[in-house]
Amino acid sequence: MAKSKNLTYIFTIVLTLLFSFATAKSHSFHRSISPTALGLQKEKLSHLHFFFHDIGSGPKPTAVRVAQAHMTNTSSAFFGILVMADDPLTVGPEPGSKLVGKAQGIYGFASQEDVGLLMIMSFAFTEGKYNGSTLSLLGRNAVFSTVREMPIVGGSGAFRFARGYAQAKTHTFDYKTGDAVVEYNVYVFHY
Ligand SMILES: *[C@@H]1O[C@H](CO)[C@@H](O)[C@H](O)[C@H]1NC(C)=O
Ligand SMILES: *[C@@H]1O[C@H](CO)[C@@H](O)[C@H](O)[C@H]1NC(C)=O
Repeated sequence: MAKSKNLTYIFTIVLTLLFSFATAKSHSFHRSISPTALGLQKEKLSHLHFFFHDIGSGPKPTAVRVAQAHMTNTSSAFFGILVMADDPLTVGPEPGSKLVGKAQGIYGFASQEDVGLLMIMSFAFTEGKYNGSTLSLLGRNAVFSTVREMPIVGGSGAFRFARGYAQAKTHTFDYKTGDAVVEYNVYVFHY
């Protein structure tokens, strides 16, 4: 009698353990997969070259100031201004040059000493094999330096898993209006 009670006891423990393993498994929210399961093959490096048109003046501005601080007016570095942009990206520097996408996002005047922007931008491409794909840029842009380097921190579509950097070089800058055309060279690893 005592022996069969013991057996029942052990059997119950084993069942409980099995059941808890089973539930632990069914509640899991992560797993390892191979890169081929996502169709990923060899990583490649791409170079993109385009011009960024940041136009605040005229009847159809592409960049608008959406906020600033009380102290912004007394800051020599315009500290505190926030601008929302939907800036055309084109093949050449002319305003009528072929459109390849838009730079959509925010830049803020984030430095009190020099004119240093924090750029938070999606490059949303609309042309060729990158139509519908985006790159995400996040970094500091010291606009009066000759070449500014900013990280590319990710992407979507053809640019899934993207990482790299962008180099920005001012092509033209209008001191009166603040309008700028900037040449971008972007280097990204992606699949
Ligand atoms: C800052 O200057 C702008 C333009 O001169 C003016 O419209 C605005 O009222 C000023 N803001 C403050 C907080 O002084
Ligand atoms: C880009 O993709 C959109 C949406 O699929 C499409 O409507 C558009 O015609 C495409 N543009 C080009 C230039 O292929």
